[in-house]
Amino acid sequence: MYEFHPYFTNDGSVGLYSTDFNDIYHSATGALTEAYEKFIYPVDFNNLLQKDKIKVLDICYGIGYNSKSFLNFIFENYCRKNFTKKYSLSKHYIYKIHTNNILQTLLGNFIYKNNICNEQIYTDNIFDKIFITAIDNDKILSYISPFIKTGVKNFKNVNIDFEYNAIDKFINNKDKISHPKINELINYLIFEKIRENSNDFTQNKELNQLINNPTFSQYFDSNIKGIYKSYRYKPYKNNPRRDYLAILHNIYYRYLSKRYKKRLKRYQLQDINFRLKNDDARKVLLEDYNLYNLIFLDAFTPSKCPCLWSYEFFKLLKEHLEEDGLILTYSTSASIRAAMVEAGFEIGNIYNERLNKFTGTVAAKNKNQIKYPLSEYDLGLLKTKAGIFYRDENLNSLNEAINETRKIEVENSNRISSSHYKKYFNQSH
Ligand SMILES: C[S@@+](CC[C@H](N)C(=O)[O-])C[C@H]1O[C@@H](n2cnc3c(N)ncnc32)[C@H](O)[C@@H]1O
Repeated sequence: MYEFHPYFTNDGSVGLYSTDFNDIYHSATGALTEAYEKFIYPVDFNNLLQKDKIKVLDICYGIGYNSKSFLNFIFENYCRKNFTKKYSLSKHYIYKIHTNNILQTLLGNFIYKNNICNEQIYTDNIFDKIFITAIDNDKILSYISPFIKTGVKNFKNVNIDFEYNAIDKFINNKDKISHPKINELINYLIFEKIRENSNDFTQNKELNQLINNPTFSQYFDSNIKGIYKSYRYKPYKNNPRRDYLAILHNIYYRYLSKRYKKRLKRYQLQDINFRLKNDDARKVLLEDYNLYNLIFLDAFTPSKCPCLWSYEFFKLLKEHLEEDGLILTYSTSASIRAAMVEAGFEIGNIYNERLNKFTGTVAAKNKNQIKYPLSEYDLGLLKTKAGIFYRDENLNSLNEAINETRKIEVENSNRISSSHYKKYFNQSH
C-alpha cells in the first residue's frame, strides 16, 4: 500500500508528510503560496518570455506545485486575454489557429480513413515555447499531481494520521493568508502530458487505489477524476484524435460550438513540452545534456536528503544552467550556500514581500543577476562549521553516508562554530 499522508495547509492547498524522511513536503502555512513565493515571484517574467525557448528544470516535482504555479502564472498573466480574442471567428482567426492544410487533414481522415496525421494545431501562444523537465524518484506521487485540489476554502483537518510537531500550530488556522488556486486547465494539461508520456498512468493499480480511496476524496479534483475514470474504464469515449479532427472541421466551416471552444482551449495549452523523469535526480541529470533557464530545487531539508545539496550536485547543476539562468531554492542553510559558492555560483537571497524577509537562496553564473546579495553576516557564516558542505564525490552515495562524512568533517574541523561567530559578530557590530 502506498504511503500517503495528506492534510490541508493554511491556504487551502494540500500538503504531504513523508514517513520515510520524517519531513513535510510543503510549508504548512500554504503549499501553493510557498511555491509562488519561492519559485515564481523572484523570476523576471517579462525578460524570460522574450526568449525563443523557456526551459525549466523542476527537481523534486512531488505533486507538482512549482511547475503548476509556473504555468498558472503565465496562463493568468500572459495568456488569458489572447484566448478570448481568438474566439472571434474572423479570417484572421483561421491564420492564428492554422494547420498546414486543414482540408487535406480532413479529407485524409474522412475519405481515405488514413490514420496518419502529422498536422498540428498551431497557435501563437506562449505555451508552445515552454519546455519543462520534472524529476522525482516517486512515480506515484507525480501521477497524483494533476488530481490535487487547491484553493479549498472550507477545509477541516480531522484524523491526521501522522505526528509532526512543527506543523501543529498551523493546522486549521485558515485566516492568515489568501487561497490561491491552480486553474483546472493546468491540471488537465499535466494530466494529458503524463498520460501521453507514461505507459501505465491510467492503468496503475496503486494510483487507482488512492484515487478511489474515500478517505482521500476531499483532496482530489472530481473533474480530473472523471476524466481519469473515462480513460481507464471507457477509453473509446475519450478519443483525442476524434476531437482534434472535429475541431479542424469546425474551423474549416467557420463555426466553433461552445463545446469545441472549450476543447480548443485545451489543445492550445497542449503546445507545452513536459517531460516527467521518475528516477534519482543525480542519475537523470548525469544522462541529460540540456541547459535550463530556471532550475527549481525543492528537495527535503539538507540533513534529510543531502544527496541533492552536495557540492558535486551543484557542480552538476552548473553544467545544466544557461549563462543567464537561475537556480531557486527555499533553503538558506550555510552549508548549501557554501556548496553553491564552491561550485562557482554567485548567490543571493530570495526576498518574500508578504513576510518582508529573506526566505530562500538564488544562484546564478553572473553577479548582475543577483538582486539581494548576502549580508556581511551571512557571508561570514559560510566560513564557520555550519558552512561545511556535503560531499558526494561520485554522485551515487546514500544519504546516510553523506551525512556521516560531513559529521566527521565537522568534528575534525578547527573552524569557529556558528554560535561563537554570532556572538563575536554581534559584539563587534
Ligand atoms: C519537499 S518534496 C518536493 C515537493 C514538491 N516540489 C511539490 O510541489 O509537491 C521532496 C521530493 O523529493 C523527492 N526525492 C527525494 N529524493 C530524491 C532523489 N534522490 N531524486 C529525485 N527526487 C527525490 C521526493 O519523492 C519528494 O517528492
